[in-house]
Amino acid sequence: MIRLMAVKDVPKIMKIERTSFSDPWHPSSFIDDIFNQIGYGIVYEDNDTVLGYACMWLMYDEAHITNIAVKESERRKGIGKALLKALIDKAKSINYERALLEVRTSNTGAIKLYESFGFKIIHTMKKYYINNDEDGYLMELRF
Ligand SMILES: CC(C)(COP(=O)(O)OP(=O)(O)OC[C@H]1O[C@@H](n2cnc3c(N)ncnc32)[C@H](O)[C@@H]1OP(=O)(O)O)[C@@H](O)C(=O)NCCC(=O)NCCS
Repeated sequence: MIRLMAVKDVPKIMKIERTSFSDPWHPSSFIDDIFNQIGYGIVYEDNDTVLGYACMWLMYDEAHITNIAVKESERRKGIGKALLKALIDKAKSINYERALLEVRTSNTGAIKLYESFGFKIIHTMKKYYINNDEDGYLMELRF
């Protein structure tokens, strides 16, 4: 089941976050998204266990997808797809025009997921990720 993120989820989210990213978010970033008016966070939960989560910022007329991750052992079961669909459905439901996200150029799995929803690379950002100077793609989905 997919539901809104709550403060009680943050320790479980952080376990996934730390094993999913070389530059994990600080827990306060998730808390900010829970309370911030432009923040929108969701979790995918099964039997009281958080298996994945996703966040976006709802800004003006565009949704900026800021984070998505699934517990390593639960990947390739459709959870990422379900989370991304829920974010896109939310953005469409409030008549936004587009969704944007950034992704490391080496993250071919995530790029495939985004492309399967129709996201397109619109810009390459040189050395965007400062922890290893990796380039990033800016991807856009127009609704
Ligand atoms: C990216 C991520 C969220 C995908 O979650 P997931 O639950 O495994 O994705 P899904 O099972 O819904 O995959 C849907 C489709 O996306 C594509 N895809 C997802 N992961 C892929 C991978 N590792 N390699 C190739 N294609 C992949 C496939 O087309 C897949 O469909 P298929 O399994 O029928 O072939 C997950 O791999 C993850 O948490 N990665 C670490 C964090 C991360 O990199 N987040 C993105 C930051 S920009």
